[in-house]
Amino acid sequence: MHEPESTILMSGRPVLSQFDFEGQVAIITGGGRNLGRGYCIELARRGVAVVVNDIDGDAACAVVEEIKREGGKAVASLDTVATVEGGKAIVAMAVEEFGTVDILVNNAGNLRAGDFADMSLDDFEAVLAVHLSGAFCVTQPAWAIMRERGHGRIVMTGSAGGVYPEQGYSEYATAKAGIVGLTRALAAEGKEHGIYVNAILPQAGGSSMTLTAEPIPGLKEAKFSGPDSSLAPYKSVEAVSPLVVYLCSSACSHTGLTLSAGAGWFGRVFVGLTNGWTTPELGVPAAAEEVARHFDEIVDTEQYEVPEGASDELRHIAMRLGLAIG
Ligand SMILES: NC(=O)c1ccc[n+]([C@@H]2O[C@H](COP(=O)([O-])OP(=O)(O)OC[C@H]3O[C@@H](n4cnc5c(N)ncnc54)[C@H](O)[C@@H]3O)[C@@H](O)[C@H]2O)c1
Repeated sequence: MHEPESTILMSGRPVLSQFDFEGQVAIITGGGRNLGRGYCIELARRGVAVVVNDIDGDAACAVVEEIKREGGKAVASLDTVATVEGGKAIVAMAVEEFGTVDILVNNAGNLRAGDFADMSLDDFEAVLAVHLSGAFCVTQPAWAIMRERGHGRIVMTGSAGGVYPEQGYSEYATAKAGIVGLTRALAAEGKEHGIYVNAILPQAGGSSMTLTAEPIPGLKEAKFSGPDSSLAPYKSVEAVSPLVVYLCSSACSHTGLTLSAGAGWFGRVFVGLTNGWTTPELGVPAAAEEVARHFDEIVDTEQYEVPEGASDELRHIAMRLGLAIG
């Protein structure tokens, strides 16, 4: 890791920067407000040249002005992430203005809310288009540059709504679960090219998305108000962005992880495999009734393992069956 050289101001206090962002270029989609704006400003303070992408031109330009006032480098990009042309134009702007792209934070988001029974396909696809296809459309042209240079850091944005069961946001949950899948797949493909890809599940609040798409009635009061009111004083963009800055830095060699952050807490969300239940006689298929009888054992999370790749599941099954692994 680059040795600490420079001092930066964090919430007014001087902090020794241990990350070397010298000459780096970042694209932040949805960078015009809330979380995206926070990432833009924090990365720019650390010397990164930033492409502030947002379809809200006023918001993007305001962030660029703010960065420039502080002496940083930034340019506004108003293209949508949701089309192939838009993605190409966003990456082209990074190359034209700053010569390359080292960092990509796929953060842009939109939302629809309501019962699944009433959801139109248009609403469903509109949300997939920004979160999931948007991540594809911007990442692919950036990927080509990163692969060629043998270096890249990509942060994808998932959501608690995409990994835990919740009502009222089926389209958002689908898109965000897809983001987690895309993150893992690209982490596996990118590692040999020096491209590291991780997903975050932020808990910051302050979203413009929920202004027009409130949770379905009853859900908010019933489940979220208690813990959320305790956390509210501590939830902020600034409490999430340190994780993003680390994941964007060359100091980070983790890849394929899903990390949750909010209010000063940071943790990992993972997929685990239970020890499960094994049929008593190898090669003799179980009856459905036996599966039902052993279902508690099958889903018991007391003992589990966290596979790092699909082949780990095969190894796990072979071990549970008592087979020698070749
Ligand atoms: N705020 C939270 O607590 C929270 C929680 C979980 C997940 N997230 C995720 O974090 C990300 C940012 O959330 P936020 O709260 O800052 O949202 P926000 O709505 O405040 O900001 C999102 C920005 O994305 C922009 N955008 C929308 N469609 C776009 C498009 N097609 N192309 C380019 N830009 C587009 C919007 O104009 C907006 O400025 C989203 O992906 C969201 O799903 C946020």
